[in-house]
Amino acid sequence: MTEVSTEQKPFLNKGLWGVILGGSSGFGLATAKRLARAGLNLIIAHKDTEGTVETLIKPHFEEIRRQGVALVTHNANLFDEDERGAVFESIASRAGPARVHLFMHSIAAGACKLIIEDKSPDFRGKAFQGLSETLRQLGVSASPEVLRKAANAAFHEGGCDALHTLADSRIAYREELLSEADLQRTIWMMGYDYLLWGRELLKEGLLAKSARLVGLTSEGNEVSWRGYAAVAAAKCGLEASCRAMAVEMGPYGVRCFVLQPGITDTPAGNAIPNFDLMKAEARMRNPSHRLTTPEDVAEVVCAICQPGFDWVSGAVIRVDGGEAISGG
Ligand SMILES: NC(=O)c1ccc[n+]([C@@H]2O[C@H](COP(=O)([O-])OP(=O)(O)OC[C@H]3O[C@@H](n4cnc5c(N)ncnc54)[C@H](O)[C@@H]3O)[C@@H](O)[C@H]2O)c1
Repeated sequence: MTEVSTEQKPFLNKGLWGVILGGSSGFGLATAKRLARAGLNLIIAHKDTEGTVETLIKPHFEEIRRQGVALVTHNANLFDEDERGAVFESIASRAGPARVHLFMHSIAAGACKLIIEDKSPDFRGKAFQGLSETLRQLGVSASPEVLRKAANAAFHEGGCDALHTLADSRIAYREELLSEADLQRTIWMMGYDYLLWGRELLKEGLLAKSARLVGLTSEGNEVSWRGYAAVAAAKCGLEASCRAMAVEMGPYGVRCFVLQPGITDTPAGNAIPNFDLMKAEARMRNPSHRLTTPEDVAEVVCAICQPGFDWVSGAVIRVDGGEAISGG
């Protein structure tokens, strides 16, 4: 039998657990897989249709189990009081006191809607008019409509990222505008919910000595993307929560982090209006000219979980290959 080195699986047989909320997709799932390879037992909560679980998610969970770690999964709405309580009970009974080494909040839930009807000038229409007119002066006839069609085909089917300013997004804005209820729920679910879980786990004595808590923000924390107002407000709340947690939970040995991935191709990302155009822009702006992957982020969470990574807390750490600071 081949011996497993502790370097490869530093957490194997240590009786420690990772709790990942939103662990069926994107950053949460990639992190679960990475930590399973490192030997950490896992409790994953997520909310997906039964069909998605059967066809898409189960094979990933099987892959995790093949790493020889324990995996407990809950398909539950974590914003329903009873279902949330059941997941918490499961953490208490399966992991037990002082056993949760990592808590990760990777839930994507919330409203992406405009706050007011869009009154931006029609820059694209003007560009196609101008192009059409210039071509006419050069003796070529192409109407603005034909040029628009060509730009969309070249962008969406031809992979021409540089056309992102001219192409039309296939992820349209929702018709209804952002409501106060949308704002409240989004700021709860993606903002201070991280604090509520972290505090509860600490109060109930479930966090291990020197536990790591991780939440996820985005570049939309500083830059305003149209239709992202509620999530942006949540991200700012999340970051402030993380700083407060680092200060008040630090004396208990808890380390708190917020990671800021670059634009990443995930189901939640692809529900954001204009995300197809944003991905193209990010590929051009990123110094490595590629998108961030969930695995890029999983590696960083795994590094954060190592014993030596002990003197960072309350920080927002960008995991984007330099995307956010790139002027393009
Ligand atoms: N994708 C990006 O470009 C990007 C960039 C920066 C930050 N983020 C942030 O990363 C986090 C994770 O997003 P992702 O892109 O990995 O999304 P994703 O769609 O891949 O995963 C979202 C997860 O949340 C779970 N979920 C949704 N509603 C739930 C509910 N009510 N109860 C329980 N689980 C629920 C889903 O089951 C899934 O596991 C979000 O906070 C998002 O804002 C995303």
